[in-house]
Amino acid sequence: MIPFKKWFGSKPEGEELARQLDADNIPNHVAVIMDGNGRWAQKRGLPRVAGHHSGMKNVKRITMAADSIGVQVLTMYAFSTENWKRPKEEVDYLMKLPLEFFPKEIDELIANNVQIRMTGWQEGLPDHTLKAIEDAIDQTKRNTGLILNFALNYGSRKEMLRGIQQLVQDAKENKVHPDGIDETLFSKYLLTDPLPDPDLLIRTSGEKRISNFMLWQLAYSELWFTDLCWPDFTERHFFEAIQEYQRRARRYGGL
Ligand code: FPP
Repeated sequence: MIPFKKWFGSKPEGEELARQLDADNIPNHVAVIMDGNGRWAQKRGLPRVAGHHSGMKNVKRITMAADSIGVQVLTMYAFSTENWKRPKEEVDYLMKLPLEFFPKEIDELIANNVQIRMTGWQEGLPDHTLKAIEDAIDQTKRNTGLILNFALNYGSRKEMLRGIQQLVQDAKENKVHPDGIDETLFSKYLLTDPLPDPDLLIRTSGEKRISNFMLWQLAYSELWFTDLCWPDFTERHFFEAIQEYQRRARRYGGL
């Protein structure tokens, strides 16, 4: 049985399901592509940004669910390097969400030992966005519990190209030898270092794409898709994804 921590005041949705999970086979790292905020809002006659706001609130809910069953790293894809192509008003709105989320949630996150991290490029982010994230990272840096990692201004191809550029530079300077370049070494040149690769990727909204997200790191991850839009995705659906993960046999190319 999985002990629920104190931060679910009331019973989480799908608690019975969570209690049936195999506590010895919880994915260490779950990554989530939180898709469908715009469609969720449009279906309700609301502006797209209302979907992003509901989506932000859901981050907390799924963080609690993940922590409750012992997930160690939860990565949330909040903004891609391609999302800058969206209308300015929508980008501005998304960039303000950390300013709302962290001040509101930080005390509870700290009380529950959560560590905030970011995977992505700082350059290009507005100062207020960066400050909100950096403050949260700083305030939680001594915590030892769940890592809540925001993929923000992140794109995987750029990450790999920058990694290769640095690797070539280090080879030129004789800091690495070409024969010594293996998967472990290359991983150290990626923004996700030192996080483990995701064991499970969840994508909401019915799209079945990876969308330039952790292309290297997802090589052997289990993929789980749902038609639900992100704001409708509850802890019960999260536990269903974990249950399905536990049914799968991960073979890593073997038998
Ligand atoms: C994709 O849905 C979602 C995003 C681009 C933004 C996701 C961000 C959050 C849920 C908030 C993150 C919270 C913090 C604190 C940073 P979409 O708009 O592409 O949906 P659509 O495909 O229906 O248009």
